Amino acid sequence: MTRATLLSAFALFVLAAQGPSGAPPPAAEDFHASYGEWAVAADQTLASQAGAEILAAGGNAADAAAATMLALGVVNPASSGMGGGGFLLYYEASSGELTFLDFRERAPAAATPDMFEEAPSPVEGPANRASQVGGLASGVLGEPAGVAEMVRRFGRLPLGRVVGPAARYAEEGVPVSEPVSRMSGYFAAQMKRDAVMSGWFAEGAEALAPGQRLVQPELGQTLRAFGRGGARAIYRGRIAREIVRANRAVGGLFTVEDLAAYEVKEREPLEGTHFGHRWVTAPPPSAGGFTMLQSLAILEQIPERHRPVAEGDRPGPAFLHALAESWKGPFLDRQRYFGDPDHVELYLDRMMAPERIEARAGAFHPTLAMPAADYDQPLFPEEDAVHQSDNAGTSHLCVVDGEGNVAAVTTTVNLPFGARYTAAGIVMNDEMDDFASAIGEMNAFGLPGGAPNLPGPGKRPISSMTPTIVFGPDGLPALCAGAAGGSRIVTATQQVALHHLVFGMALGEALAAPRVHHQGAPDQLRTENVMPMDDERIAALVARGHAHEPIRNIANAQVISIVREGDEVTLTAASDPRKGGRPAGR
Ligand code: GLY
Repeated sequence: MTRATLLSAFALFVLAAQGPSGAPPPAAEDFHASYGEWAVAADQTLASQAGAEILAAGGNAADAAAATMLALGVVNPASSGMGGGGFLLYYEASSGELTFLDFRERAPAAATPDMFEEAPSPVEGPANRASQVGGLASGVLGEPAGVAEMVRRFGRLPLGRVVGPAARYAEEGVPVSEPVSRMSGYFAAQMKRDAVMSGWFAEGAEALAPGQRLVQPELGQTLRAFGRGGARAIYRGRIAREIVRANRAVGGLFTVEDLAAYEVKEREPLEGTHFGHRWVTAPPPSAGGFTMLQSLAILEQIPERHRPVAEGDRPGPAFLHALAESWKGPFLDRQRYFGDPDHVELYLDRMMAPERIEARAGAFHPTLAMPAADYDQPLFPEEDAVHQSDNAGTSHLCVVDGEGNVAAVTTTVNLPFGARYTAAGIVMNDEMDDFASAIGEMNAFGLPGGAPNLPGPGKRPISSMTPTIVFGPDGLPALCAGAAGGSRIVTATQQVALHHLVFGMALGEALAAPRVHHQGAPDQLRTENVMPMDDERIAALVARGHAHEPIRNIANAQVISIVREGDEVTLTAASDPRKGGRPAGR
């Protein structure tokens, strides 16, 4: 594949991810609500309602998060589903314990570091590289194993009950939402190559119409089988064989052994205390938690007069400038050092060493945007310069139940409609694109990748997903947060939390407030068309030397805040108005 082909695939995908510039802000009146007992915030209203149904039936946060995830996969198969994978951060109120479950996709055993180097594009159209569409693009799915494990470990209801709302949605059909319609318009030609997805389109239609009923009987059957038989029903036997057949029919490498070998991993979450709060978040193979924690640590090292925080105010240009600068260094580390912790050595302690954070804070200039290279802190001599990667898709949800358990889940099939083929009614992921296709080779966003994140047998690709729980000064959870949207996941999650916890904005305001994003390379300070920032702040940032690049939106986040007054608890749940979902609760 030529570089020109790669770039045009990249340009088309960026268009798909960002939508037309100048898009009007979405209607946003009822995207947040307060409840006294329990709450669910997902980016699709029917998915929030699925979680609420399970809580009303006596389930807890783990049951409800599982039901919400499964329902998301039915209601919005562009972003996540049984064919993908994700991360759960779970707080168990009775013990105060935090558990992180990694159910990310794994490369099949036949994967090799050079598998994408010369691989031709399987199809025409946007996001058409071999790592983005077709069988080679898929990692072994993790979501069924993750759901089964979270319900087994923490849940109260039988899996068959938890699966119920999603199976019903698949069997009876659900209305197509605006984001699903928009994404189907970009990827229609590729989706129509698949027998199941082509059946979703009306005769001659070039996109799924908003409000059109999406019925998925094959997926309903698979969900029911999963509810009866658990993970075994997906990873062994008839459905496993069907997944292998479908993957290989479009050029993939799956074997029944790959499916049987899939395992959920429990990992130690990352944490740090910053701005008076304890932030607990995703460890590798996510780079998101590290990036957020290091950015917070750098911000704290920058003197407050250069990044003023005024309670009840919005972040001013000086703070936004410091924020943008604080991301440049950790994004460099992500590219250079991150890979699957089960396969490559990670140097987290060295990366987080206080002298390194001080050096990065020392490179900060209050009125000048510095090149990312100025924040580079190589751990080893003679390292080459690096750049960063990005992608889109994904879904984040939060659940808080009546006992105070908190579930933060981010889950994905990676690019819209994953690898754009189905198996047993399941849309299969293209998570292999989160690996580096080759050292220095461009990914979906035209950026090169690093050696630790090359594909390999059984490896998990690096992720940006950042499910996070922030604890208040009383030691109890104050905020559940996370987002969808590639590398913007990290920066969006961090900003919403800072808006609410540090600037003291009401939760809805904190979520809707315009956001910025910078990942070092490309050297662009991104703002949002759907939530435009005022000209005054943009002008002040440009005056500091930032190259301003507006895009459609900077991720979409779901959050729940928890406020206690005596015996009273107020849960405020909010679903990002950028995606149009609504929370549910009681
Ligand atoms: N595929 C999105 C992520 O894991 O960051």
